[in-house]
Amino acid sequence: MPKVLCIGDVMLDVVVALQAPINYGEDTPSKITTHSGGAAGNVASWIAHTGTEASIVARVGNDSAGAAITSEFEDLGVDHSSLKKTSDATGVVVVLVDKNAERTMFPETGANSGLVLADMPPLVGFDAAYVSGYALLNPRSRAGVLEMIAAIKSAGLPLFYDTVTVGAMKEVDRELIYSWLPLMDYVLPNEEEAFYLADSADIDDALRKLLELCPAVIVKRGSAGAVAQVRGGARIDIDAVKITVADTTGAGDSFAAGFIATKISGGDLSTSVTAGVTLAAKCVANIGARPQGGHAL
Ligand SMILES: Nc1ncnc2c1ncn2[C@@H]1O[C@H](COP(=O)(O)OP(=O)(O)OP(=O)(O)O)[C@@H](O)[C@H]1O
Ligand SMILES: [Mg+2]
Repeated sequence: MPKVLCIGDVMLDVVVALQAPINYGEDTPSKITTHSGGAAGNVASWIAHTGTEASIVARVGNDSAGAAITSEFEDLGVDHSSLKKTSDATGVVVVLVDKNAERTMFPETGANSGLVLADMPPLVGFDAAYVSGYALLNPRSRAGVLEMIAAIKSAGLPLFYDTVTVGAMKEVDRELIYSWLPLMDYVLPNEEEAFYLADSADIDDALRKLLELCPAVIVKRGSAGAVAQVRGGARIDIDAVKITVADTTGAGDSFAAGFIATKISGGDLSTSVTAGVTLAAKCVANIGARPQGGHAL
């Protein structure tokens, strides 16, 4: 069975659904739920859900949130033997959701910072690696993750990279990100990230520019599905699955998982993007960023 190494971050998501406008300095009635999250953790969980093996390389704190996250990986069938426990607190993101479903995030990276090459297990037996953009954008993890990437490339494994967010990309020099993209075999931005990186608001122009840096680009377009192109190939467009959406958290991560699992099993570009939109539909139909009910398919 193929096996994927997932490098990046795991977080505790505390989702606060406001039941009234915020009363600053007072109480505001809320419905609060906690979920495991973090891009790499989500991708590993959804990959395991497809029946492909996944291992997580990340850090949590030696605290109750870290224990809960580890136990959920166990339930979901994710190999967490390289999930390191540190003296920093587990990363937490508080997500305020208002009555219009608008989300406002308060992230604290916590234990996720400081990944080093020694966190990565031996690569024998792995077929591919996913790297979350958060890990490279974080200056405290960057050097270690670049060493991991060098080792992954020497081992000949295909690398899948999610550019994750324009906000964090704006905090580093764009040239630095351009220096990373040629290391990747597949880059998976959403449309906003693709437009930012290509400095263009036209999808074909953005694909053309990104394909100069990376051999395959897959652009996620929310309810409009996804477009993908390999260098020298034709653009393909795949519609999103039409479903009732409950919560789009984890959409991009579940898409990446479906795409990666199918691609490394020999799927062509179109079949793999279709697998991405299909798994993402399953994610957005439920609350939270992870598969429901453990690793049953
Ligand atoms: N409203 C929706 N209806 C159906 N499918 C959706 C919807 N929103 C997202 N998806 C699916 O999820 C995929 C990824 O979503 P999106 O394009 O928002 O990526 P993203 O911005 O990386 O997500 P994230 O917010 O998780 O980072 C889409 O390509 C689509 O297949
Ligand atoms: Mg995304």
